[in-house]
Amino acid sequence: MQAARFPYPFFILIAFNFTLLNKISQYAMTPIQAVSRLPKAELHLHIEGTFEPELMFQIAQRNHIAIPYQSVEEVRAAYQFHNLQSFLDIYYAGAAVLRHEQDFFDLTYAYLQKCREDNVVHSEIFFDPQTHTARGVAFDTVIGGIRRACDTARQEWGMSTALITCFLRHLSEEEAFATLAQALPFREHIIGVGLDSSEVGNPPSKFARVFAEARKHGFLTVAHAGEEGSPDYVHEALDLLHVSRIDHGVRAEEDEALMQRIIAEQMPLTVCPLSNLKLKVVDDLAQHNLHRLLQRGVLVTVNSDDPAYFGGYVNDNFTALQQTFALSTAEIAQLCKNSFQAAFLDNETRQKWCERIDAITAE
Ligand code: ADE
Ligand code: ZN
Repeated sequence: MQAARFPYPFFILIAFNFTLLNKISQYAMTPIQAVSRLPKAELHLHIEGTFEPELMFQIAQRNHIAIPYQSVEEVRAAYQFHNLQSFLDIYYAGAAVLRHEQDFFDLTYAYLQKCREDNVVHSEIFFDPQTHTARGVAFDTVIGGIRRACDTARQEWGMSTALITCFLRHLSEEEAFATLAQALPFREHIIGVGLDSSEVGNPPSKFARVFAEARKHGFLTVAHAGEEGSPDYVHEALDLLHVSRIDHGVRAEEDEALMQRIIAEQMPLTVCPLSNLKLKVVDDLAQHNLHRLLQRGVLVTVNSDDPAYFGGYVNDNFTALQQTFALSTAEIAQLCKNSFQAAFLDNETRQKWCERIDAITAE
């Protein structure tokens, strides 16, 4: 009969170990709960890339502009890309229906509402003025609508935003200088300048002088580099453009000395996993290096890039990563903290959000 008593201490031991394990893993919250519950910042987002087909149809109709699609479904079906350029061609065509201040307001306000749903409490938004000024839309019209939406989000739910004007790198240095001149009257509303569009063949060095001029005016700088381009482009962005962050930067991993530098300097990489998948930077999310970079101590952040085109906003990116790499609650929390660490925020605000993340994960 003595053997019958054996299971009791055994079960007690198991129960005790579970409690201990929970204590050791610290978190009652599952990683997926952490994705939705934790505040985060988005640092790599092109406002023109948030143009959902439904809104595109609506704005095209009210502006009496014909688009080459019969339905929302047809638009979505066209979003099959084989590289960056095949995406950019469709992205610029879509942006062509934006004409009026109200259009830019509607576009931005719709994105900010998505932020609210995803617990994105701060967003640093790229916009491409040249895409619009080339069609005769004034810089003032573009930034006016974007700013009004940002002001509304701040008033309605306390969200903070910053604006980054990007130069299209497939255009000339001269055109970038002209864009910088157009941005100057709005200096107080624009935190920085960036560099986007077709990377290969348009290295950062092409824009070294315009970035130097922008820095003289107090703009911070960021640049897309190492998305499709080689690690040399990342070196140039660091050394010639003096960037505060690298947008994408995933190909930096091919250069070990560069990796050491990025880790030592805690140079943020604003990584966009679903974008990299859609644009065939990786064939499969399981091949993506974000988790590896995180484990090596790179200051990586998770972002959506052009969510209307790539199948998801920030939390969709987090969720896809979590499912692919079985990210832990601690890793999700680290990625959220990284987003504030890399943001253009004052230290006090940065610390406030990081403490909030700690408090929520400790609940
Ligand atoms: N413009 C919008 N999205 C971009 C991306 N992923 N790379 C370069 N330029 C862009
Ligand atoms: Zn981008």
